[in-house]
Amino acid sequence: MPEEVRIVTRRLHEFPEDSWRIERALDDGAYESARKTITSMTPDEVVAVVKDSGLRGRGGAGFPTGMKWSFVPKDVFPKFIVVNHDEGEPCTFKDRQLAEEDPHQLLEGIAIAAWANQATKAFIYCRGEFALGSRRLDRAINDAYERGFLGKGIFGSDFDLDIILHRGAGAYICGEESALLDSLEGFRGQPRLRPPFPAVKGLYGRPTVVNNTETLSALPSLLENGAEWFRRLGTERSPGTKILSVSGHVNRPANYEVPLGTSLADVLTLAGGMLDGKAPKAIIPGGASAPLLTSTDVAVDFDSLKEAGTMLGSGSIVFMDETTCMVRNALVTLEFFEHESCGKCTPCREGTWWAVKVLERIEHGEGRDEDMDLLIDIANGIDGRAFCPLGDAASWALRSNVKLFRDEFERHVSEGRCPFDGELVGVSGSPARHEGLGGSGTAPQPGAGMPSDAEPEGN
Ligand SMILES: Cc1cc2nc3c(=O)[nH]c(=O)nc-3n(C[C@H](O)[C@H](O)[C@H](O)COP(=O)(O)O)c2cc1C
Ligand code: SF4
Repeated sequence: MPEEVRIVTRRLHEFPEDSWRIERALDDGAYESARKTITSMTPDEVVAVVKDSGLRGRGGAGFPTGMKWSFVPKDVFPKFIVVNHDEGEPCTFKDRQLAEEDPHQLLEGIAIAAWANQATKAFIYCRGEFALGSRRLDRAINDAYERGFLGKGIFGSDFDLDIILHRGAGAYICGEESALLDSLEGFRGQPRLRPPFPAVKGLYGRPTVVNNTETLSALPSLLENGAEWFRRLGTERSPGTKILSVSGHVNRPANYEVPLGTSLADVLTLAGGMLDGKAPKAIIPGGASAPLLTSTDVAVDFDSLKEAGTMLGSGSIVFMDETTCMVRNALVTLEFFEHESCGKCTPCREGTWWAVKVLERIEHGEGRDEDMDLLIDIANGIDGRAFCPLGDAASWALRSNVKLFRDEFERHVSEGRCPFDGELVGVSGSPARHEGLGGSGTAPQPGAGMPSDAEPEGN
């Protein structure tokens, strides 16, 4: 029976009642790793440990964290750390849980990253809908200031660090790091032309490290235990653990932390298997942007999924069974991209709009024989021609739905209706069928669509 390896999620599982409170976090050793790092290691030594560990960003692109830090010019000040806590990828809910249930681990990780990069200001860009998470982060920041972990001369050193919590307005594109920086500066969130990359010219034109919440949350245990320890988990090119947000037609949708390289079949077992013992028909392995898989016979890590023609992305995995209409799946996915397209470039703005129109008519029984080729043509018109990866991602999702399930699209056209109409159809699982199912042994797990302040107590 596969098991989780809980490192980044350990505290929140061990102390579900109060893991987010500073008293509990301190009892559990919080901030000791940052204290040791800041008072006994040079910034270069910290960068070297992170480089040696092979830690890769957990936000989607999987870029090596230590390498990114080494691009930051040493002689330009001020520099900034920006935490990407936007988590807009559909069906991803790991960062939200980390900030709601272990905000001090994140703050400790920010302090380590700030010291390594000699940044005295950090900004947390928090998704606007994360009401509970932002309240808890706000309180955690205040508590950390009170104890001298933030502010002037942190941990008795001569290093100053301020953290500013900023709530966004809930736009997917503001998770893209350069659009995030525009939004943080008060402009409309749209991607910037790169280079220059944020590490060289980022927030207010200054060197800026943008890292994901999970990436930063992994730092305290990494600096406490060292690069070699970190490399013992995971694979050669994808070391460490990864939190996977598992949802869809599974018995226990939840966040699961596993070593990278764990098989997708084991991840499904961890999630309690498919509902009603059905077989998975399609699997989204890394958020809506990732091309579909039809088999669980693949390892979940950056390289294996790339070899399988898809990607790990944010690490959200959606299992869909035979009741899923793949035209509807393509439609809701493309509706998402159409809605979230920032409009800056024509291929994405127009292409996603046209894809939705064609998918709508197929789903409603008004499709034409040539529509499947038309959809592939639309995907080809976006892929590689869009200004930022959002457009490419939309085209990959569209193409993989049509290519893998073309027969289903054709049935919609030949029968003049959706063959799934009148049946219990789901795209990512019917809420009614999940009622009463908790997570992996803690408080109810956050799921896509659940308001983040649904849990009123314990702020
Ligand atoms: C459309 C789009 C949305 C993104 N959304 C997020 C997000 O919500 N959170 C995140 O950490 N990274 C997101 N990213 C990736 C970021 O641009 C960036 O790679 C990441 O924040 C870097 O942090 P990491 O190296 O720690 O992963 C997104 C990228 C794109 C293209
Ligand atoms: S690809 Fe889409 S989201 Fe990205 S810049 Fe172009 S219109 Fe905006």
